[in-house]
Amino acid sequence: MSAPSELIRGLPKAELHLHIEGTLEPEMMLEFARRNGVKLRFGSVEALRAAYDFRNLQQFLDLYYQATAVLRERRDFYDLTWAYLEKAKRQTILHAEIFFDPQAHTRRGVPFADVVGGIHDALRDAKRQLGLSSKLILCFLRDLDADDAMAVLDEALAYKDRIVAVGLDSAEVGNPPAKFRDVFAHARREGFLTVAHAGEEGPAAYVREAIDALHVSRIDHGNRSLDDDALVARLATARIPLTLCPLSNLRLRVVDDLANHPLRRMLQKGLVVTVNSDDPAYFGGYVNENYAAIQAALRLTREELFALARNSFEASFLDPESKRALIDRLDAYSAAH
Ligand code: HPA
Ligand code: ZN
Repeated sequence: MSAPSELIRGLPKAELHLHIEGTLEPEMMLEFARRNGVKLRFGSVEALRAAYDFRNLQQFLDLYYQATAVLRERRDFYDLTWAYLEKAKRQTILHAEIFFDPQAHTRRGVPFADVVGGIHDALRDAKRQLGLSSKLILCFLRDLDADDAMAVLDEALAYKDRIVAVGLDSAEVGNPPAKFRDVFAHARREGFLTVAHAGEEGPAAYVREAIDALHVSRIDHGNRSLDDDALVARLATARIPLTLCPLSNLRLRVVDDLANHPLRRMLQKGLVVTVNSDDPAYFGGYVNENYAAIQAALRLTREELFALARNSFEASFLDPESKRALIDRLDAYSAAH
């Protein structure tokens, strides 16, 4: 895999598709297991890395949920989030919008307040100490019932000031967006923005449904959108962004080869696409490695790289002035390089 160029490493960017549980590096997993007295099936970093050979989304999810068992205390969520933010800072991420999966924790008896509290404190400290801004997005596990999601939403209402949006993740096929129509309607009435994973393994029809039934502001992944020309036209006209994750797609075999990744075709069709890392501890790279891999595979031009970074700010949930300030930094970087 090609190492990120200096241009990519210094490129001001936002990350918009990042599961905080997916930043749990093997070393950290073993350390948290030790300090919390949790037994893991894997005894070493090498054994863990050897297990990161996935045939599809479900195989990955099985391991990802097992690994969350080491996250027990509020400080685990703080440490996990802080470690990501320090990494993000080193990768010139100026703004991060971060998913978390409360049901993966509350179903093991971890209080919702500890999950949100630990993550939030790290985000607050990163703003002060690293100058890195962020937003938090609560994801519902779509393979669980809509009633379950509604109960989580009720719990989240007390944290409205800390959570900007709700999303949908986990096993996609067989769990279409419309299953969560009422939950998302309630979330929107309560002032949350909405996003959803769609068109990763599921069909273009799920992307359509996420827009029509859930009124999402962004689509996470959305690879399969290209199967439907009318949908592509709609995504382009409405400027609904897609948060693409190239290395995730490769490792979960959503694409067989990055040379066949839809990103370039999507750019050419006028879609607002962004580059993101999804679950970097499992998929072999953080955001800069994703930029480097997709640039090498598709021979992206300098202009395309800058367009991707610009899209990342435009597609964010920042207010217009904050977006402007970050895009100005990108423009200054462009002028200097
Ligand atoms: N897809 C769906 N659910 C997920 C993912 C993903 O890539 N990562 C963590 N939860
Ligand atoms: Zn994801």
